[in-house]
Amino acid sequence: MCGIVGYIGNNDSKEILLKGLEKLEYRGYDSAGLALKNDQGIHVFKEKGRIADLRRAVDKDMFATIGIGHTRWATHGVPSKENSHPHQSATGRFTLVHNGVIENYALLKRELLADVPFKSETDTEVIVQLVEKFVGEGLNVLEAFRKTLKLLHGSYALALLDAEDSETIYVAKNKSPLLVGLGNGFNVVASDAMATLQLTNQFVELMDKEIVVVKKDEVTIQNLNGEIINRPPFTAELDASDIEKGTYPHYMLKEIDEQPAVIRKIIQTYRNEQGELTIDREIIDAVNEADRIYIIAAGTSYHAGLVGKQFMEKMAKIPVEVHISSEFGYNLPLLSKKPLFIFISQSGETADSRSVLVKVKELGYPALTITNVPGSTLSREADFTLLLHAGPEIAVASTKAYTAQIAVLAVLAEVTAKSNGIDIGFDLSHELGLVANAMDVLCDSKELIEIISREFLSTTRNCFFIGRGLDYYVCLEGALKLKEISYIQAEGFAGGELKHGTIALIEDGTPVVALATQEKVNLSIRGNVKEVVARGANPCIISMQGLNMDEDSFVLPEVHELLTPLISVVPLQLLAYYASLHRGCDVDKPRNLAKSVTVE
Ligand code: F6R
Repeated sequence: MCGIVGYIGNNDSKEILLKGLEKLEYRGYDSAGLALKNDQGIHVFKEKGRIADLRRAVDKDMFATIGIGHTRWATHGVPSKENSHPHQSATGRFTLVHNGVIENYALLKRELLADVPFKSETDTEVIVQLVEKFVGEGLNVLEAFRKTLKLLHGSYALALLDAEDSETIYVAKNKSPLLVGLGNGFNVVASDAMATLQLTNQFVELMDKEIVVVKKDEVTIQNLNGEIINRPPFTAELDASDIEKGTYPHYMLKEIDEQPAVIRKIIQTYRNEQGELTIDREIIDAVNEADRIYIIAAGTSYHAGLVGKQFMEKMAKIPVEVHISSEFGYNLPLLSKKPLFIFISQSGETADSRSVLVKVKELGYPALTITNVPGSTLSREADFTLLLHAGPEIAVASTKAYTAQIAVLAVLAEVTAKSNGIDIGFDLSHELGLVANAMDVLCDSKELIEIISREFLSTTRNCFFIGRGLDYYVCLEGALKLKEISYIQAEGFAGGELKHGTIALIEDGTPVVALATQEKVNLSIRGNVKEVVARGANPCIISMQGLNMDEDSFVLPEVHELLTPLISVVPLQLLAYYASLHRGCDVDKPRNLAKSVTVE
């Protein structure tokens, strides 16, 4: 939610910041802005819309060696030029960009800034006005910044410019992600290393409630009491080419196609020299010590968690509950005596999940994070981490992270089972290899899926996905993919549940996508299809080889029955992709969304 970037050095910051914002656009794209500082002062450019709109608005001839930029996902105040960042203090001396939410902004505004004229409806403006107020009262800028931060409740990643200082960017962080990148004769700040990877791969991680004074040759980290903190940099293990689209028209299509490689990478990473799947002993011990596992996640990651529950229960015989993170904190279930919490999160930054993790740590329970982003907040704050190794996922709609999450959960279940002498009855690493091959076949079937998508989805208002058992969970994911990128009202249902109410929505031509990959429910799901067809539905049955019948629209290559979610989701991802394309939607950046949801 919102991305920030800053540069201080000898080169022109304008292009560096715009390129950085383009890489951060996945974090929000309602509006964007830049503040460039040169000898003539601070120049602010902002636009409602995308970075491309901002690029058109920026003065191309302006040269400035310091600057900060922002791409916004609106929380307080509608997306508009006025509400977009950077925000400036009343006199214009201070300029600020912010990612996060200041919960007590209204109180601060009322109690401390009643006389100050505000230009926006944002929570952010309070911060910059407070800095100016405290400087006006005699504090130096750093003291004023520190005093302001101590008053804030909520999350922030901040970068602040002072019109009277051409050598400093003031930076601070609490709960929202922020890194400082180190260069030779320049330094950068960014919400994500991807934003400035073309300049440096050396980054310093920041912890909550830290302030950083960033100069072009020096970076000083301190806590809110002014105590200096020394922290060595780390090398970001990212390849700049990982974050390019290459010849693909959209990141989503590229990431769908990367899935076979990701599965192979997971097999390779989690396999030891003897060819056995393996996971750190301490993680397996933590799983074995638990009497119940609680999986906490949101959105697509929650859907992966539902599949993971089946793996842990069927393979490792450990009971699992799966919870939506935004609900868990308010509806704490009766916990077992020795719970282990598993957080599943592509970004590792989702605020809803993080707030549960904070609670879990307060209660003293162990936590494992399964994430794609090493060093992310959820990874740092949990006791253990398992990485997805999926490479950066840039399209807002998650695809390869979902299948990677399922594959890693399968590995966790298998290794746990093995540690307890349980024979799961098949060779998981071999079967995952077959899954990767099957995914290759599916990625080569785009033409057929595009035709099906055009036939079923190009004009419909709504669509239902039905399945039973594991297929039901994949239906939830298929429906989420379709609604988020094509704006078709889509719902996933357990096949048997439709007749308990929802079948009333079926009318002539309503598309119903049915998954049939599970032998024991193959006939019953087909019975459910007949029920909806009798009421006018337009069915699209996706079955697995061996269970297929003449009526089916698409047949999946055969894989182990437990692993079918890894392949049945691929045509659903592609159906959604083509529906979005045919309907003229923005595939990679659907409206109202952002990739990394760092507000609760
Ligand atoms: C949907 C999607 C979201 C995320 C959810 C959780 O395509 O990407 O539903 O899955 O916002 O995000 P993470 O996994 O980063 O915690």
